[in-house]
Amino acid sequence: YTVTFDETAAQKGGFDHFMLKEIYEQPQAIKNTLNGRVAKGEKIVLDKIADGDLKDISRVFIVACGTAYHAGLVGKTAIERLSGVPVDVDIASEFRYRNPILDKNTLVMVISQSGETADTLAALRLAKQHGCKTFAITNVVGSSVSREADFVFYTYAGPEIAVASTKAYITQLIALYIFALYMAQDRNYTDKETLENIKSELLLLPEKVKKALETDALTKEIAEKICVETDIFYLGRGLDYAVAMEGSLKLKEISYIHSEPYAGGELKHGPIALIEKGTVVIALNTNAELRGKMDSNIKEVVTRGARIVEILPDNFENAGEGCDELITVPATEAILAPVTAVVPLQLLSYHVAIAKGCNVDKPRNLAKSVTVE
Ligand code: AGP
Repeated sequence: YTVTFDETAAQKGGFDHFMLKEIYEQPQAIKNTLNGRVAKGEKIVLDKIADGDLKDISRVFIVACGTAYHAGLVGKTAIERLSGVPVDVDIASEFRYRNPILDKNTLVMVISQSGETADTLAALRLAKQHGCKTFAITNVVGSSVSREADFVFYTYAGPEIAVASTKAYITQLIALYIFALYMAQDRNYTDKETLENIKSELLLLPEKVKKALETDALTKEIAEKICVETDIFYLGRGLDYAVAMEGSLKLKEISYIHSEPYAGGELKHGPIALIEKGTVVIALNTNAELRGKMDSNIKEVVTRGARIVEILPDNFENAGEGCDELITVPATEAILAPVTAVVPLQLLSYHVAIAKGCNVDKPRNLAKSVTVE
């Protein structure tokens, strides 16, 4: 009697693909990122950063590629809103060739799951040449960016095998919120109570993401309907626009469906010309303050025949008017909404790719880590 042992299957821990396993690991990954850094009523602690190390920073430049860049876009809003420090976000391959204006009070933050992306590493080196302080958010302990940056924030998401980044992205978001809170704590820009509320909500995110994973079956059903499409649009305002960018990238990289993210307010400036009867639009609508505006954008596309898949928090009233499919995720602080909203988008991309018979973990033409220019 022999037992056959398939090592790869064992590594997938019962899941069909690494991507799905990694999506399901997100609640634990978030806990790992928060661990030892965030506690109620206590100051944020960052590894090897002493009080005052970042007090002269007057501007932050976030530089990254792909999904990590999308995390940076969320980070910009979080840092600016909570600490009042202005933030620029750039794609590493653009940043390094456009003579950015940098000085010693600029903190250049690179975000890289692998810590080995060639353009991101080059951007970090450029920042050092300009005398900037540098900060790396990475998942890989001992990676190049972690060795070269002045300060390192490890996300501790655990190994990410699937080419499509999921748990690395969500933990980069958490890292950025923690950094934003750190920058805010001594600057007196946001009142203590608001900061404490955000901290408490951050600590609830592992549970809320777990709940958001319950959208799995519904996203599978929707995926089976939309997998025949050739073009799919993502729409959002504010932070939802940044999440729309990530959702759209996830879909195109593993399902090969052409997809574009648009900011709701930009529709009239061109993209609405593409909407025709039956066009699928995935609309993110998580922010109460922007909801009225977003609802009008949804109406604009519905009038032109679009089919809407809407993502909403579970505390919105009259949810889903005019939409064909409604996906609800646990409500949280508006600023943290990307964490729960991205989960159904990841699952949707996964199920669309499966429905199309694509190689989910190793999509064509892509490498996990882009170490050449
Ligand atoms: C994400 O799903 C991608 N495969 C890709 O955009 C990736 O995020 C990018 O190449 C950056 O990689 P890094 O985080 O390792 O630097």
